[in-house]
This record gives sequence, structure tokens and C-alpha cells, in this order.
Amino acid sequence: MRIAHTPAEIRRQLKSLRASKTIAFVPTMGCLHAGHMSLIRKAKQLADIVVVSIYVNPLQFGPNEDLDNYPRTFDADAKLCADAGVDFLFNPATLYPASGPKITLKATQLSEHLCGKARPGHFDGVVTVVNILFNIVQPDIALFGEKDWQQLAIIRRMVSDLQMAVEVLGVETVREPDGLAMSSRNRYLSETDRNRAVALSKALRAMQQLATAGESDIGVLKDRANAILAAADISAEYLDVRNPNSLKNKNRLNSRPARAFIAARVGSARLIDNIPLHQT
Ligand code: PAJ
Repeated sequence: MRIAHTPAEIRRQLKSLRASKTIAFVPTMGCLHAGHMSLIRKAKQLADIVVVSIYVNPLQFGPNEDLDNYPRTFDADAKLCADAGVDFLFNPATLYPASGPKITLKATQLSEHLCGKARPGHFDGVVTVVNILFNIVQPDIALFGEKDWQQLAIIRRMVSDLQMAVEVLGVETVREPDGLAMSSRNRYLSETDRNRAVALSKALRAMQQLATAGESDIGVLKDRANAILAAADISAEYLDVRNPNSLKNKNRLNSRPARAFIAARVGSARLIDNIPLHQT
């Protein structure tokens, strides 16, 4: 595995390979866990060369968020990548001038709800940096986790709106044995809060079961989920059922696709999760 620390270095490394090999790209902020590794495994299946980036992107953190405390575990991450057969690891110190980028992207409508409400500017920071990363790596395929569904939907839309020559692939959420979605932020949870946190995936699963059993009233689904959350002393920041592509709110389930989304603070961690709802 080759490690590059600057855009010029990774560009140089990839230049001669580009003509004859396909490139899959997995952008991350490090602190790699089984969720990231499943993206990397999928990338290996789909392309000749796998590039992983590790960059804790300041543009996507709000002023009161965890940028300085975000876990940084580069040596362990590099070993995991090497063992998984990653070809190139890109770990830049920065991706824009110290004075900040003067040209940025805006996620507009798709970022106005769900996580965008509590994290103003977050998705603008994500699309700006993912655009920069795409321009540097120029991958054929880029893989993102369904765990961050809104991010995935926004990046898909960025690629189609801006006619970018990259195929975006979503990868199913990897969970702990009890159902908690894996996240770098789970390490902020105390033992008690870790036990409470399972209520998020339990609540979503209960909504999914009700939908599969034929319940189409979203109010009923939400009541069941809120009862499960309340039993764990959790109140959701949002608990919504939305169209998975437009992210528009839904009031009833019908034949069209739907997905349930949740965010909640558990102890000092803000956790998110989502699940598809299938009506039979
Ligand atoms: P990060 O949180 O490190 O996540 C990197 C990728 O791993 C994202 O596509 C995310 O959705 C995926 N991922 C995280 N947990 C997962 C899980 N449990 N199962 C499946 N996939 C999972 O998301 C970011 O970084 C950043 O916003 C980034 C895209 C790198 C831009 O800075």
C-alpha cells in the first residue's frame, strides 16, 4: 500500500494507472471500523485499484461540534487498510488554502431538513470537500454508506447535477450484533449510554415491522418508535419518514419507496440511523 500526503503526490501515483485500470474510491475521516471496511471490501470487488482517503474535514464541522476531539487513529487505520488490500491511502494535511476555500458548493434543498437543520452548513462542507477529493482522485466509482443516507442522497445529486464522471454506490449499514449502527462516534458512549443507544435501531426496526405487516399510518409507526425511545430515556431530535431520493416528508405509506430516519443525542454523542420501510 502506498501512502500519499499531498494532492500532487496521489495524482502522480495514479496518473500512469488510469489508462488501463479502474479506480474505486472510499472517502473517510478515519477511525476506521467494520462499516468503513465493508465499503473497502466492496470497492475491491468492483475495481482494479482501491483508493481510501483519511481527512477530517473542518468544513463540515459546526463551531460547537467535535472537530478538535474527533478521534484520530492513523496508524491503526493504515494497518487496517493495508491488511484489506487497499492500494493507495491518501492522508492530506489540508485540501484548501489556510485562508479557507473561496469557491464552495451548496447542497441547497436536500440539506434543509433532517441533519441539515441541526447542522447548518454541514452538507455544504461535505459536498465541497468530496468535490475536491473527486477532482484529485478522479475515481470511476465512489462508495458511501447508507448509514449516512442524507449524505449519500446529496452526493448522488451533486454527481448528477454537476455531470461528474463518477458512479456513486451506496453500501448497506453495518451494525453491532445488537443492532446499533457502527459509527466512529460510538466510542464517545459510556457503558450505560451504549446500552441505551440500541433503542435507536430497535425503534426503527419496530417501524419497519409495522410497515411490513401492512400499517400505513405513519403516526402509528412513530408512536411505537417513540415509546421504545422513551423507555430508554431518549427523545429524538427528529424521527421522520421520507422519500429516500427527494427526502420529502411522507404522511402515509403507499406503493412508493419510504425510509425512516432518526437522530438523537445519547449522552454526549449525537447518533443517526435509518431503515427502509416496505409495504406489502
Ligand atoms: P466517515 O464518517 O468517516 O464515513 C466514511 C464512510 O463510511 C461514509 O460513506 C459513511 O456513510 C460510511 N459509514 C460509516 N459508518 C458506516 C456503517 N456503520 N455502515 C456502512 N457504512 C458506514 O462520512 C464521512 O466520513 C465524511 O462525511 C466524508 C464523506 C469522508 C466527507 O468528509
